[in-house]
Amino acid sequence: MAQSRVIGAEHIQDAYQRGRIVFEVLSGDIVTDLAVETAERLGIRLSDGPLDKPAIVKTDGAKAMVRGLYRRSSRWVSPHKAIPRQVRRFSKLALVGAGGVGGNIAHLAALQNMADEIMLIDIVPGMAAATALDLNHASGITGASARCFGSENLADLAGADVIVVTAGMARRPGMTRADLIDVNKRIIHSTAEVIRARAPEAIVIVVTNPLDEMTLEMFKMTQFPRERVLGMAGTLDSSRFRNALAGAAGVSPADVDAITLGSHGDEMTPIPSLARIKGRPLERYLTEEQIEACVKDAVTGGGQVVTLKKSGSATIAPAHGVVELLDHIRGARVGPVPVSVMMAGEYGVHDVVLGVPAHLGKTGLIEVEELRLSERELQNLHAAAEAVRKRLEH
Ligand code: LAC
Repeated sequence: MAQSRVIGAEHIQDAYQRGRIVFEVLSGDIVTDLAVETAERLGIRLSDGPLDKPAIVKTDGAKAMVRGLYRRSSRWVSPHKAIPRQVRRFSKLALVGAGGVGGNIAHLAALQNMADEIMLIDIVPGMAAATALDLNHASGITGASARCFGSENLADLAGADVIVVTAGMARRPGMTRADLIDVNKRIIHSTAEVIRARAPEAIVIVVTNPLDEMTLEMFKMTQFPRERVLGMAGTLDSSRFRNALAGAAGVSPADVDAITLGSHGDEMTPIPSLARIKGRPLERYLTEEQIEACVKDAVTGGGQVVTLKKSGSATIAPAHGVVELLDHIRGARVGPVPVSVMMAGEYGVHDVVLGVPAHLGKTGLIEVEELRLSERELQNLHAAAEAVRKRLEH
């Protein structure tokens, strides 16, 4: 049963500090007068959530008591019925590409019982089948009920509700992500064709590099609505940024709140202005130079792994980045998450894929969230959009 929340002024303050301009009030939430006043003062719109479609639920006694304790006037309680925060389970999760990233996604997804069926697909003979078998062998210890299958045939993605595409060539030392454009474009095109024919209702998450460009190609070739074609980069880049900030400030990464937007390339746009360490602006803990170094560390993070590995790129952090998106889609997490989507005018950007904060749900993209960025950050975001566009034109 869902817990109803009591929204106080501190929650609104917190949302303000994170640069949010909309605060989602879920049905059943209790909003204090002070919270309403604070929202008005800070220019935050209280939206009647949820952004996801509600399911009907009966009122329970505990919630009625909480309401009774906090209610002082009827407008403190949002008007709709309460929503159960139900975590969905996918019936079939398909992973196109069963290399390091695909294998790690399958592992994490199996451990979290995210799907009834996990289908790994890879053209390398035996690779997907071996990983699937390996994962099933672990289930005697983990108790995971998700069944894993391996295939060399793309057609086996049929009927999947979510498809994660990691297939493609990875960087070697000295290469940029953009160097992969021609070879990986062909892979994305052939994959998109099969997805369109065999899984026309699926949500597709692209991981293949160069990320924003390949997400755009997937969008064009599947002809799916933009809601169902997402690119994973922002969750990964944000995690790298938070890791760098935590290291520099000597705190736990759990104490750091920070996001990275823009492209998954040289024009990556970490957002220091909205980043917080223990709820406070970065400047309370770090010098300007340290912050710049953390930004650089996030932007070059993927390349650092490639240099150390010599062949192939990172696998573990990218897999977690995908799982974070899957968690939003299945309702295990709520709130905005950085994700690459086809832009439709948000932040003044049209017709190009870019990493932005957005709300996701079982239908994919629900809404892009526009944050108050600094002038420089906004410029960087626009520069990233132009760079992605140019790379595809050439
Ligand atoms: C990275 C690759 C996955 O950033 O782009 O590690």
